[in-house]
Amino acid sequence: MLQIRENISLKNFNTFGVEAYARFFVEINHEEELTELFLDPKWLQIPRLVLGGGSNMLFTQDFDGLVIRMNIRGIEHRISHEEVYVEAGAGESWKELVDYCVNHGFAGMENLSLIPGSVGASPVQNIGAYGVELQDVFESCQAFEIASQHKKTFVKEACGFDYRESIFKTELKNQFIITSVKFKLSLQPQINIKYGAIEAELQNRGIEKPSILDVSKVVSDIRVSKLPDPSTIGNAGSFFQNPIVTKAEFDNLKDTFPTIVNYPADNDKVKLAAGWLIEQCGWKGKTIGRTGTWKNQALVLVNHGNASGAEIYALSSQIIDSVYQKFGVKLQREVNIY
Ligand code: EPU
Repeated sequence: MLQIRENISLKNFNTFGVEAYARFFVEINHEEELTELFLDPKWLQIPRLVLGGGSNMLFTQDFDGLVIRMNIRGIEHRISHEEVYVEAGAGESWKELVDYCVNHGFAGMENLSLIPGSVGASPVQNIGAYGVELQDVFESCQAFEIASQHKKTFVKEACGFDYRESIFKTELKNQFIITSVKFKLSLQPQINIKYGAIEAELQNRGIEKPSILDVSKVVSDIRVSKLPDPSTIGNAGSFFQNPIVTKAEFDNLKDTFPTIVNYPADNDKVKLAAGWLIEQCGWKGKTIGRTGTWKNQALVLVNHGNASGAEIYALSSQIIDSVYQKFGVKLQREVNIY
């Protein structure tokens, strides 16, 4: 029997650790419970929020609706020649899924080690790190359509994946609840260490022919050195997306700021490192009241203790304004704001 609770604190359900209350709260452990939930039309009529690991959201106020906490567990795999299909419940932790795959020798996800959050949330923003994105290993996902109460399968091509983007964030926002995700991995590792400091760090450790376990360890260590651990300092990883500008806009910026950090993007555009832009505006490691930016990565906003979501949001607005004034580039928040 589903238990719907009232006036529940969400402080332990968001990695920023900010206080906010949910008017109603339900935990879903099995897919069939979604059907059971929506038998009551009341839940179709009020605002709903699907919560995974709460690692990419900022509550600026109480949520006057139903929070649906996805807790469907289970990881299974099927080997077919050199390929492996791994299917995981939406409520599994992303980190544990990557560890499961790395420990079984299933290659493809190792660069995505230690990303906080849940499996069900991973396709929504097409999570990515160190040169790999979720879409590179995604096969399909199962999702519950709220309006029809039917289950649907989304193959990769139907998901509209782009940089930190998918159809679940845009056209289909709030219409589906992802219940499980299937990944296609390989027994033949294709090591991808070109991004950032991975290659140098492997060399430091005297590793010439890295295994996927070596890559996973190095990626995890780099993350730990750059990013604050949400269990001790509230944060949601990168707070903003890296902005993408046209080649002409980039050339103008480069004239004035010759050291601007940039990467090629699709369609002849250029991706700028938001962390660099923010640091150039003097924000890196700054503490403002109970909030601030992280000392090793200016793109990460932090809760130094008991900050409210509104305070963190206000800091993000100040940062957007100052980056815009200096560079004429409008940062977009990557974190979902409620
Ligand atoms: N940089 C600075 N100052 C800073 C931070 C970064 O100058 O304070 C420069 C770095 O020196 C580097 C460049 O900016 O040259 C990029 O920095 P980094 O490699 O740390 O990556 P990022 O672009 O800031 C992105 C993702 C991260 C992901 C890393 C590694 C986004 C918004 N963020 O960050 O993802 O872990 O690459 O692949 O795309 C997240 O989405 O929550 C997240 C942490």
